[in-house]
Amino acid sequence: MDNSILLKVRDLKKTFVKKTGSILNRKLQNVYAVHNVSFEIKKGEILGIIGESGCGKTTTARMVMRLMKETSGEILFEGRDLCKLTDSETNKLRNKMQMIFQDPYDTLNPGMTIMDILMEPINAHEKHLPYDEKVRRVKEAIESIELRPAEDYMERFPHQLSGGQRQRIAIARAVILEPLFISADEPTSMLDVSVRAGILNLLLELKKKMGLTMMLITHDLSTASYMCDRIAVMYQGKIIEVGPTKKIIQSPSHPYTKALVSVVKDLNYFIQNREKLILDGEVDATEETAGCPFVKRCPYQEDICNSKMPKQESLGAGHAVSCHCHSNLLEKTS
Ligand SMILES: Nc1ncnc2c1ncn2[C@@H]1O[C@H](COP(=O)(O)OP(=O)(O)OP(=O)(O)O)[C@@H](O)[C@H]1O
Ligand SMILES: [Mg+2]
Repeated sequence: MDNSILLKVRDLKKTFVKKTGSILNRKLQNVYAVHNVSFEIKKGEILGIIGESGCGKTTTARMVMRLMKETSGEILFEGRDLCKLTDSETNKLRNKMQMIFQDPYDTLNPGMTIMDILMEPINAHEKHLPYDEKVRRVKEAIESIELRPAEDYMERFPHQLSGGQRQRIAIARAVILEPLFISADEPTSMLDVSVRAGILNLLLELKKKMGLTMMLITHDLSTASYMCDRIAVMYQGKIIEVGPTKKIIQSPSHPYTKALVSVVKDLNYFIQNREKLILDGEVDATEETAGCPFVKRCPYQEDICNSKMPKQESLGAGHAVSCHCHSNLLEKTS
């Protein structure tokens, strides 16, 4: 594997089986939550994964972080396939890969002090350190998330902190072991608007200071455009467009990306007269279609879109799209 790449995901799939119907007439239905997803993340890069609710973002992250087993596929981290590791090998890797979740209320144990919460990963992975050194690491982690002086926070419980401060502690817990990779799943969507920018800037600063590589999941394109070097757009379990952030925002080549970009006001300041594209309906991951997953909602569709799944096509400079009619789209938007 190319040495500049930290994470490479190949043909990743997750199919859930959902029970439907009444008790007397139970039926099983497949949910194709993630369907042949492939992407890579370079060292030091932030890849954004965007898409509407139910498109498979969290399922992808949970498989990458080994919180869920894949149906099939490969997840290469530093060249090793995580899908083939034993449980104890996976546990050892936890200090290199960490996750930040959406809801800091859920992820911090309410019965533990901040000190205990931050000691936990150290005790799990660096038990041998002298106690004083462990306390020094905890203090350093609290100060790195800009809660100062650290002593004022160490003996508090999560309920004695604000939502933004709790998310900062969750971030401190994620970085305390100096990981290489962080996956953040909607890290600001549960927070008050006033503290969101502070958390995003903190993540950017930590990324810079620690040389972190990140996967940032969000349904908010403004957040993705602010934070990410590249963006992958998911639709119904598939990546339908991927590219450098500037390309995705300025020349979206899939009708779905175009729809996402066209409704975000603060992205349109430099793109004058951009036509608005409002979509009806929503993602349905139980549908298995021979054609393009977006066909039912696509205003640009052609006959081929109903019968043939579009292949990913390179548009140059790392920009790629899976759409039969992307050239029509470019003509209409230019
Ligand atoms: N444990 C599960 N069992 C059955 N179906 C599931 C399970 N987890 C997720 N799904 C389904 O898989 C699909 C993808 O879900 P996922 O949570 O990955 O979406 P998401 O993109 O993260 O959405 P959101 O933006 O709402 O968080 C959805 O249709 C969801 O209902
Ligand atoms: Mg999710």
